[in-house]
Amino acid sequence: MTLPESALKRIKTLRQIINEWNYQYYVLDSPSVPDAEYDRLMKELQGLEYQHPESIHSSSPTQRVGGFPLNAFNQVTHEIPMLSLDNAFEADGVIAFDQRIRQRLHTGAEIEYVGEPKIDGLAVNLRYEQGKLIQGATRGDGAMGEDITQNLRTIQSIPLQLLGDYPELLEVRGEVYMPLTQFALYNLNLEKIGAKLLVNPRNAASGSLRQLDPHISAQRRLAFFAYGVGRASPNILPFKHYHLLMMLKSYGLPVNPHIQICTDVTACLQFHTQLAQIRDQLNYEIDGVVYKVNSIEQQKILGFISKAPRWAIAHKFPAREALTQIEAIEFQVGRTGALTPIARLKPVFVSGVTISNATLHNIEEVWRKDIRVGDTVIVRRAGDVIPYIASVIFDRRPAHAAPIALPKYCPVCHSNIVKLETAVIARCTGALFCHAQLKETVKHFASKHALAIQGLGDKWAEQLIENKLIADIADIYLLNKDQ
Ligand code: IVH
Repeated sequence: MTLPESALKRIKTLRQIINEWNYQYYVLDSPSVPDAEYDRLMKELQGLEYQHPESIHSSSPTQRVGGFPLNAFNQVTHEIPMLSLDNAFEADGVIAFDQRIRQRLHTGAEIEYVGEPKIDGLAVNLRYEQGKLIQGATRGDGAMGEDITQNLRTIQSIPLQLLGDYPELLEVRGEVYMPLTQFALYNLNLEKIGAKLLVNPRNAASGSLRQLDPHISAQRRLAFFAYGVGRASPNILPFKHYHLLMMLKSYGLPVNPHIQICTDVTACLQFHTQLAQIRDQLNYEIDGVVYKVNSIEQQKILGFISKAPRWAIAHKFPAREALTQIEAIEFQVGRTGALTPIARLKPVFVSGVTISNATLHNIEEVWRKDIRVGDTVIVRRAGDVIPYIASVIFDRRPAHAAPIALPKYCPVCHSNIVKLETAVIARCTGALFCHAQLKETVKHFASKHALAIQGLGDKWAEQLIENKLIADIADIYLLNKDQ
């Protein structure tokens, strides 16, 4: 069947509209139409393409998830190597970086930088020819990576077709990441099926990009930010890195909205502080910021040293994760008798505080994560979240480490512990005979939203119970002033 002019026109219009909506949704982060409307036009386009298969080409928005599972990824040589970055952990290191740059450039003038969030994901290279995405590769060792085009095509914020006045050949470099909401959802599903949880969004993104079947990769809903270019031909690159980023944005590529010009090194340090403050509000992990000399001319003069540019540095945030060991697992009894396992840790410094305990929530969680005494574990503390054990490093498990058993008797009152087959929580059956339950009940009764008895907190409750002045809630009313 020949392709009627009217059908072709409609197909083109639909592609244009859908691409525009995709751009607004995934790149600008501002959805412009209800999902149902999007789905309706997408179905119409799919229908027309099905009737006229000769109209289908790889840049059509219907063609993101296609192809067959691969047996292995092909190797790709990067025409221009993909570099890494030097790190600074303190302001001193950043100031020294700025001084080295001035010395090399023989200038007393302030150096202008671009401050960017350092996205904790995976670097990729996207090759566009005549504006079409024709290849995408991992960074690999910087010289050679793997061809993961099929998987990168499933990332909605990566345009299959560039917009505007793009050069014939353009290699875009940037970071693929898993949004935190996706990561949480993904782990929730793993938890439901009783599978091992993913350690962090970066590993999740990495695992997803390594899927040989693009259908699986597509389900993971990764995202992308562009932060530089490889080869461009003709070389139409602007004089400033910042303008380069704006140019990428004009091609329809997602550029991080927090990127900012820093007029000198002091402004860089302010940028670091500013981003550290909003770190917890972002829907992706950042592990620091990157400063890049804004002038491309100056970048060229500065050049590279081994595998990193002299004109850029990563200023890291304090790590949110650390390795430590489980020294013991103890059980705490709550107000309702619920038994909460607590991991006693070899003290470790994570994002500014020393951590020596982590709650394990309930015994099922201990079994699911397979946490044992003596294990080396990753502890994580993100924002205001209480520290928790992200995962066990099984390779480092001592030979004698045994699975944690649920205690038979309450560690406080020695009553029986019961756990229903269907429940995740085990409980002490001692009720108020159990001093732990009694103490928590007294505290609860005295708390702000109940009777608001000032001063009757942890310490007093404990003393009153130990001295047998309170054995029941009603005893609170029998206390005299001296007691
Ligand atoms: S620029 C020429 N900018 O950090 C410098 N890298 O530690 C090449 N990364 O491999 C990298 N956000 O995976 C640059 N805004 C950003 C970045 C960024 C994250 C990653 C990237 C790179 C690694 C280096």
